[in-house]
Order: sequence, then C-alpha cells, then structure tokens
Amino acid sequence: MKKLKVLLIFDSPYSTARGYDFAREFQEEDWNTERDVYNALLENGHQIRLLGLCDDIGILLEEIKENKPDVVFNLAEVFKEKTYFDKNIVAVLEMLQVPYTGANLSGLLLCGDKGLTKKILTFHRIKVPNFQVFYRTRNIRRRHRLKLPVVVKPLLEEASRGISQASVVDNEEALIERIKYIHESLSMDAIAEEYIEGRELYVSVMGNKRIDVLPFREIKFGQFPQEEPRIATYKAKWDNEYRKKWEIKNVFAGRLPEGLDAKIESICRRAYRVLNLQYYARFDIRLTAQGNVYILEVNANPCLAADDELAQSAEHDGIPYSKLIQKIIDLAIAVKS
Ligand SMILES: Nc1ncnc2c1ncn2[C@@H]1O[C@H](COP(=O)(O)OP(=O)(O)O)[C@@H](O)[C@H]1O
Ligand SMILES: [Mg+2]
Repeated sequence: MKKLKVLLIFDSPYSTARGYDFAREFQEEDWNTERDVYNALLENGHQIRLLGLCDDIGILLEEIKENKPDVVFNLAEVFKEKTYFDKNIVAVLEMLQVPYTGANLSGLLLCGDKGLTKKILTFHRIKVPNFQVFYRTRNIRRRHRLKLPVVVKPLLEEASRGISQASVVDNEEALIERIKYIHESLSMDAIAEEYIEGRELYVSVMGNKRIDVLPFREIKFGQFPQEEPRIATYKAKWDNEYRKKWEIKNVFAGRLPEGLDAKIESICRRAYRVLNLQYYARFDIRLTAQGNVYILEVNANPCLAADDELAQSAEHDGIPYSKLIQKIIDLAIAVKS
C-alpha cells in the first residue's frame, strides 16, 4: 500500500493552532470518530497531520499551502457552530484542488437541505414523504395537500438535533407552534413531512462507478410505548440511559419480506446516482407494512465512527474498519479534480 501524506480535518470546539496535538482530546468519548479514523490511518502506515477547525478558515489555507497533503480526510461538519457550513469547507477544498474524502459541495448542498433532496428524488420518481417547507421569511400557511400527522424538523440540521416526541403533530395549532419553535428558538427554517409509519432502516452505500449497498441496519424501539410515535429523537439516538430504559437498539435488519431487499438496494443505488454522491453515504428509510419504501433523509457524510452504522455494515460485509478507511482514501485519490 502506498504511504500517503494525509491531512485529517475535523471539528474543534475551540481554536487551536496548526500542529496542535489532539492526543488528550482523542482520549475522550466525544472524540471517538476522530480517534477511530486517526488510528486506522496510523494502522495503514500513512503520515498524518491533524487540523481542528473552529472559526478560522485561514489555518486550512495555510496548512495546505505549506504542507500540501496527498489527500485530505474530511471529518469537518461544523464551522462557527453552524452545521450547514460543512459544504463551505468543502468548497474551499475544491478551490484548492486537493483530493479529499467524502461528499462534494453539491452532495452536501443537496442533502443538507431536507426539502431540496426530496424535490430531486421526487423528480426521479423515488418515494419521499409528502412535505412542505416553512421559511422564516414567509407567513406560515399549511397547504391542504399536506396531511396530518406530520413530523416537523429543522430544514438544515442533522443527528436528530431539534427532534423530540413533540415534533410529531396531528393538529394545526400544534403544527404552527412547533414551526414557530424551530423558527424562533432554533433560528432555522422548518420542514413538515407526513408521518410515515413503519420500520426504520439505515442503508449505507459505497463506491463511485461500482456502487455497493452494505447490509441494512435497523432501529428497534423495544419497550417504547406503542401509543407514542416511534421515531429516532435526539434522546432515542444519543441518550444511553434513555435507550436502556426503553430497550431502544440499533441492530442488523432481520429478514425482510420477499423482494424487498432488492427493491431497497435498487432505490438507494438510484438515489445515490441522481444526487451525484461519491465514496460513501447513508440513507435513512422507512418501510411500510404495504412494502412501500420512503427515503426520509440522505446523509452525504454519515458518521464514520467504528461503532456507527456505516462501519458496522461494512464490517458485516467483510470489510474491517482499517480497510474501510483505506478504501475511502483509495476512492478519493482515484478521482482527479
Ligand atoms: N416523515 C417522517 N416519518 C416518520 N418518521 C420520521 C419522518 N421524518 C423523520 N422521522 C424520524 O425522525 C428521525 C430524524 O429525522 P431525519 O430526517 O433523519 O433527521 P436527522 O438529520 O436529524 O437524522 C428519523 O430517523 C425518523 O425516526
Ligand atoms: Mg437521519
């Protein structure tokens, strides 16, 4: 394997200078993704430099100018505490014409906006929940064709931020209240999507010319009350005690009814192509009792932690973690910008 100069970039909650040694941070639980990727890069024998981005893009420009890497391994998602600046960081990498891993600007732009993604998928006849976007600059008026109940979410967020049981509303008043909450308290535009009842699957996809669909993962809601909407709220995703209490677990999806594996694979492959995604991505989908498949969300740069969905699916498919990280690099340097 060729040894490469890899610049690993990621989010830092505070400003650090170039060359800052993140050894102490990498021991903390919150930094597991960075640590996992770093260790995998070490294992693969690469020469690694670290750069934590917080609020100064200048250090990225300087670093690449003075220490041009063969490839940037991109884990950066936040800038100035804004998750939608992920695409702007990639835009800088594109201008610097340095190879980098993960989604490109257009992938992050299209998938970062839950409304825009659905408009494109709809054009290609891929099923998504019926939805309406509520911008802060407009009056809030529900179109009649949007049927309740709906899930109200921030338009540009991820990782279930802003999503709780109160996000599912079944009357006009609650809908308006929740939209206002997102507009005013979270300072974001909102999207309301018809609530799709069904199993929730996470489908990871890898590749460029050849696109591989990895074994499906599924969230199981265990003992969570049947009368409550079963959705992956912030708590259901990240609060370990809450997950334990209700026996919420992420597992490999059990057997699906005849023909559905192939149907889901084909839908995800097609969605990956029409959104022009590259290297890897993850689809959050719902499967109804009637066998309809809806894409809820497309994660253009899904989490790469060793214990998260994509890495788990890859491992199940016979790709150990360090190989997965190498495969992502190989895909990235194969494409000339
Ligand atoms: N239209 C919908 N119908 C049913 N559940 C939904 C819908 N939209 C979102 N959810 C639930 O909310 C969770 C988070 O929504 P998602 O769009 O994936 O946002 P995030 O980017 O925060 O992961 C989903 O995993 C799902 O459980
Ligand atoms: Mg999601």
